[in-house]
Amino acid sequence: MIIAIDGPAAAGKGTLARRIAETYGYHHLDTGLTYRATAKALLDAGLSLDDETIAEDMARKVDLAGLDRTVLSRHEIGEAASKIAVMPAVRRALVDAQRRFALKTPGAVLDGRDIGTVVCQDAPVKLYVTASAEVRARRRFEEIIDAGGSADYDAIFADVKRRDERDMGRTDSPLKPAEEAYLLDTSEMSIEAAFQTAKSIIDAALSRNA
Ligand code: DC
Repeated sequence: MIIAIDGPAAAGKGTLARRIAETYGYHHLDTGLTYRATAKALLDAGLSLDDETIAEDMARKVDLAGLDRTVLSRHEIGEAASKIAVMPAVRRALVDAQRRFALKTPGAVLDGRDIGTVVCQDAPVKLYVTASAEVRARRRFEEIIDAGGSADYDAIFADVKRRDERDMGRTDSPLKPAEEAYLLDTSEMSIEAAFQTAKSIIDAALSRNA
């Protein structure tokens, strides 16, 4: 079983993907972390983010088993990741690794931007999780405040918009819903309600396959 989950930054797809993987006992890969790990390796080595050959080389060395969400969640790593994510050679290298991951038994949940459209085009379940830019910025803002940090809502909102433009506007594998994807708009839906909807879609797909 392969479950493909796509959507823009901060729409809640990661939380949903983890919960689905836990419920069904499937493996989970946040594919954004593979782009982030590549970017971090380049930054750590003091290498340019503009050289596609060097970036591809780093992408091929990424170890999917060693992705640390806490370390990779830093803002500047996200920025660098969205820059190298426009490079076709980097995408090819990471997509190869992601496709190998998707074959794990008894199933895999992959979340990202191009899972349903490129990486796992034959996935029996495709979800597109979205929310308005305002709601996504508000959630990120509250996450930081709740963690005891300080944040500027306007700056976060501008950042969300900029990230959307880059993810949706690139030529190679732009962010968009797969034709047969089920759309989950979490602007006014709790994560619990989104999970229950996803669960009924997955259960229906599992009984079709049985
Ligand atoms: O979801 P995230 O913020 O961790 O992703 C970091 C960057 O990686 C994001 O700007 C877009 C890119 N990305 C991508 O191009 N394709 C994916 N499948 C996942 C992430």
